[in-house]
Parts: sequence; C-alpha cells; structure tokens
Amino acid sequence: MAHEAATRPLTLSEQADELEEQMMHELNEKIATKSVLFNMGEGKVEMESGPALMAKNPGKYFLMGADPRLPKMPDKPQLIDFFKHRFASMNHLLQSATHALKGGHSEKVVLACLLHDIGVASFIRCDHGYWGAQLIEPYVDEEVSWSIRVHQALRFFPDESVGYGYPDMYVKYFGPDYRPEPYIVEEYKRARKHKHYMTARLICVNDIYSFDPNAKVNLDDFVDIIGRNFKQPKEGLGFDNTPSSHMWRTLMWPTRFL
Ligand SMILES: [Fe+2]
Ligand SMILES: [Fe+2]
Repeated sequence: MAHEAATRPLTLSEQADELEEQMMHELNEKIATKSVLFNMGEGKVEMESGPALMAKNPGKYFLMGADPRLPKMPDKPQLIDFFKHRFASMNHLLQSATHALKGGHSEKVVLACLLHDIGVASFIRCDHGYWGAQLIEPYVDEEVSWSIRVHQALRFFPDESVGYGYPDMYVKYFGPDYRPEPYIVEEYKRARKHKHYMTARLICVNDIYSFDPNAKVNLDDFVDIIGRNFKQPKEGLGFDNTPSSHMWRTLMWPTRFL
C-alpha cells in the first residue's frame, strides 16, 4: 500500500495537507492567522478560535511578528519601503503622478496623485479614499490628505470646467443604472465648497484609467517630491505613535495573532 501511495497522484486532501505542511515550514513552525476580514472576502463571516488552531497545530506557537512568506520590511520602514514591499501594484499610482508632473502641477498635487489609491494598492477597496487619507494624514499637508479622502466621491461627478466627465469605465464596471450612495453625494456637495476642491479634482483629472503597459514610469522620479512633502518619521512608519501608526503596522504584519 505504501508503494501505491508513493506512485498514485495525491488526493486533493493530501495535496492540501502537503501545502499546509510546506507553508508551516516557511513560517518557521509558527501559526499565521487569518483575520475575519480575510474570510469575509471568501463570503464567510468566520474566524478560527485560538484553541481550535492550537489543536490543529500541536506544539506550535502563533505568529506574533513578521510573516516570512511576505517580503521582508526594514526595521524602520519608510514610505518607499511600503511602495516596494507592500503595494500589490504601483503602476497606476506612478502613471497618475507622472501625468500630473508633466502637466506642470504643484508638488502637492503630484504627491496627491502618487498616493491617491494607496488604500486600494495596499489595503482595501471599499472606501479606499478614506482609508488612504487616514494612513497619510499625520505626514502630509492637509491639502494632500483631504484631497485623497474626497477623490472617493468626486470620481462620480463631472466637472466640465476642467473637462472631467463621468468615466466611461464606470458605466462598464457598475452598469448604466449605478448611482453613488447618499453619503458620497453629500461628500461631493461639501467638497465642492472646500478651498482645496481643485486639488481633489485634479486627482480625478490625472487618474489614468487606460493603462499603458509600455509607459515609462519610475518611482525614482518621485523620491525628492516625497522627501520634501512627506514627513518620514525617524522611528519608521508604524513606530512613531501617530493616529495611523497601527495601520502601517497592520500592513507590515497582517497575519499576526494579536
Ligand atoms: Fe481612487
Ligand atoms: Fe485611481
């Protein structure tokens, strides 16, 4: 029978066991945990309890630090490190910022374009403008964070004065009958009257939806603008005791038990 087991293809459950075994190995025998949010992404409001996970993994401790399956972060991470190691894609951000730079806009506008979708790139899609703004709020001028927050709403409303129409792509993505939620409509109305309205609007204008895979964009082009306009904490993002430090730490250690 042992011989048969060695030569026949593995059953699905054996494959799953093997994969789990392999991941454990990579984790240095630690148990990485999935938060409820990760499971909700699979349509389940669930989490495995500590005792259940311990019972499944006898003799192992929970992961309480860096997940070795993810790219290693430096001890004092800066914004650029998150770009390189925690953003699933930076192409859209770089294209948008490059467009703003070529348009001759201010450094604050360029930075706002560079960071406008970091919520999506690193964290979560729902209400990404709000999440992204919250992440950077302690480190940038209010003009930048406020604009990123409200681009969430402005995206849905045209402004002919700058040649911005409702994106064709949204008709394709959400259907012709989609209407933004009332809280988005209210946000738009408030933003309209705000002194930084045009900065937020310029995020929309430079929000490039036609991805050109051949466009030459480079994070290096923005290192100086980041240096001048993003207050990098000397302790590293996550260790500087601001209202968003915990969010940067969560991006660093998304599978920590607590
Ligand atoms: Fe966005
Ligand atoms: Fe965008």
